[in-house]
Amino acid sequence: MTIRRLTPKDLSAYRAIWADGLMKVPSAFLFGAEEARAIPNKDVERMLEANLVLGAFDDAKRLVGFVSARRGGPRRMQHMADIGPLYVRPEAQRQGVGRALMEAMLEQLAAAGIQQAELCVDVANTGAQALYQALGFHVFGRRPRSVLIDGVGRDDVLMIKALDGADLTRGA
Ligand SMILES: CC(C)(COP(=O)(O)OP(=O)(O)OC[C@H]1O[C@@H](n2cnc3c(N)ncnc32)[C@H](O)[C@@H]1OP(=O)(O)O)[C@@H](O)C(=O)NCCC(=O)NCCS
Repeated sequence: MTIRRLTPKDLSAYRAIWADGLMKVPSAFLFGAEEARAIPNKDVERMLEANLVLGAFDDAKRLVGFVSARRGGPRRMQHMADIGPLYVRPEAQRQGVGRALMEAMLEQLAAAGIQQAELCVDVANTGAQALYQALGFHVFGRRPRSVLIDGVGRDDVLMIKALDGADLTRGA
């Protein structure tokens, strides 16, 4: 397996895996499938340039997983990054791809001087929560009705990990 940053040149492979995830696990994404399909290629290319998106490729050079992160915009928030979505194709799951993607992401964020990584995960997604916990994330809250999927509210668990060794369990 190879992990590398995705660029606008990976547009079609990225759109394909994104569409696969949106169809198979809608609760793992903020965008709905139709909404995502309507986004023009140039906007997705811009996003691949602006955000850090890492892709995992199998031996046949097929994109089997990806993870995205976006650094805080205002200067006062540039010490943090929001991670997500994270998705591994079902046939490639439970082989360490998700963990490897997250480890590579955390390493790159830390190398860029980012002090903390944050993410939100559906309250029922205990598999992903186990992965994040194993990587050192801890829960700092729960957002009720975080998203509406087909009109039904779903709660998210909010998780955080310090990348600079700070103890964030006790506040700033
Ligand atoms: C969550 C996800 C990214 C994990 O990817 P993966 O490549 O299967 O994960 P790994 O093989 O690296 O697993 C690492 C650890 O995560 C935990 N884990 C992953 N999937 C799990 C599951 N279905 N049930 C329980 N634990 C799970 C385990 O602790 C696992 O370690 P182990 O295999 O030694 O027990 C993948 O299942 C996925 O894409 N799910 C759908 C999308 C999604 O839920 N994304 C996260 C949204 S926040």
